[in-house]
Amino acid sequence: MNKVVVGAQWGDEGKAKITDLLAADAEVIIRYQGGCNAGHTVVANNKTYKFHLIPSGILYGNKTCFIGAGTVILPESFEKEVNELIEEGIDVSGLKVSPLASITMPYHTEVDGYSEDNAKKGKIGTTKKGIGPTYTDKVARFGLKIEDLYSPEALNEKLDVILPLKNKTLEKVYGLQPYSKECVLALCEKYAEIFRPYVCFDWQEMLENSRKKQILFEGAQGVMLDVDYGTYPFVTSSNPIGGGACTGSGYGPKMIDEVIGVAKAYVTRVGEGPFVTELTDETGDKIREIGHEFGVTTGRPRRCGWFDAVTMRYAVLVGGLTSVALTKIDVFDSFDEIKVCTAYKDTRDGKIYKSYPTNVYIHKYLEPVYETHKGWGEDITGIREYNKLPENAKKYLARLEELLEVPISIVSVGPDREQTIFRG
Ligand code: GDP
Ligand code: IMO
Ligand code: MG
Repeated sequence: MNKVVVGAQWGDEGKAKITDLLAADAEVIIRYQGGCNAGHTVVANNKTYKFHLIPSGILYGNKTCFIGAGTVILPESFEKEVNELIEEGIDVSGLKVSPLASITMPYHTEVDGYSEDNAKKGKIGTTKKGIGPTYTDKVARFGLKIEDLYSPEALNEKLDVILPLKNKTLEKVYGLQPYSKECVLALCEKYAEIFRPYVCFDWQEMLENSRKKQILFEGAQGVMLDVDYGTYPFVTSSNPIGGGACTGSGYGPKMIDEVIGVAKAYVTRVGEGPFVTELTDETGDKIREIGHEFGVTTGRPRRCGWFDAVTMRYAVLVGGLTSVALTKIDVFDSFDEIKVCTAYKDTRDGKIYKSYPTNVYIHKYLEPVYETHKGWGEDITGIREYNKLPENAKKYLARLEELLEVPISIVSVGPDREQTIFRG
């Protein structure tokens, strides 16, 4: 069974924990989109590992971990991550990078930082890792790919086209320093060395040979940050949805059997953008504190709110989810009441939205319609069987399944590998 792990909310749902668990049965793990904007945490062997780009399956040491064509790679970040794993004694011999992946150049990071720091209006709250500008150049056919680093002729030709216009934009639009061709060539030489041990020039053969193997596709970010389906423009610049696994990996849709959407028992969001169930009161603070809701990549406090079945049903639809892995339900152990948003109400005319309204500019007029569930008031972090969960926790899960119309196949009750309940 080939599976895709997709974030079902605004990222940080605990995808890496679920990917790491499912990777035990996979032979090939493919990261299909995003870059080092992602911050993925795996707790295993009494250690906490932080990943940004490298597939979480790397910890097993004996898997092929492929960074696909749909990703963008900041070379220095990749190098740092690999070196940290090597220092930890992790075997990275299975790590492979697609020659078609896009390179984040220093000017991409500078432009991202400039745009964020100088935005008077419409700030996105990006991770400033150059993600948007790298994807922009890729789509504008102005980007550099890993394979260019090993083809001096292509690199030369491309830079002659890219640099004059790039420099004009850098100077005139952003007031930033231009890049000489010599400087970019020197950077590319350095990058070629960073990637050399990992570039998978025979990726077609590798994918062909892996057809009969168990493949796990690893997504970053989440459906609500998808550039086509998320809370646009407050999104990332790639396609975290299940469909993104195809374009980003090089495999067709028939290669996918299951799409597992990872969702927290509540919702968090980092950066700007609408968030109808956001709690700006002490309940939000309590969730943040108990759930340790601070960004892995930027350290920013995450905005917290109640579970939102409106966006989640939307995520089931456009994310192509076949089941849900519900994480962090243990965060509610000390809560008397837990709320779930089942619809939105427009405060202007009372209109009820059961389906997700895609025009985010009306979200400021929307308020959540909640139903309230009783808490269970006990520590569930040691429970490993579904039937042993407190009745109120089971009722809560059953209600979510009813609202989402897909099964909750995994319940996570703590950050550790072992703190997981698999259902049938
Ligand atoms: P990702 O980006 O989706 O992989 O998620 P992050 O790693 O950014 O954030 C999830 C955080 O929650 C990490 O610190 C995980 O160790 C932690 N975590 C994952 N599952 C659970 C869970 O079921 N309970 C608790 N308490 N923490 C969890
Ligand atoms: P993981 O994989 C949460 C958010 C940023 C910002 C928006 C655009 O750990 O779930 P970008 O730098 O991508 O251009 O920023 O997307 N964002 C994330 N939020 N988790 C992530 O990754 C994120 N990656 C980007 O905060 O709002
Ligand atoms: Mg994260």
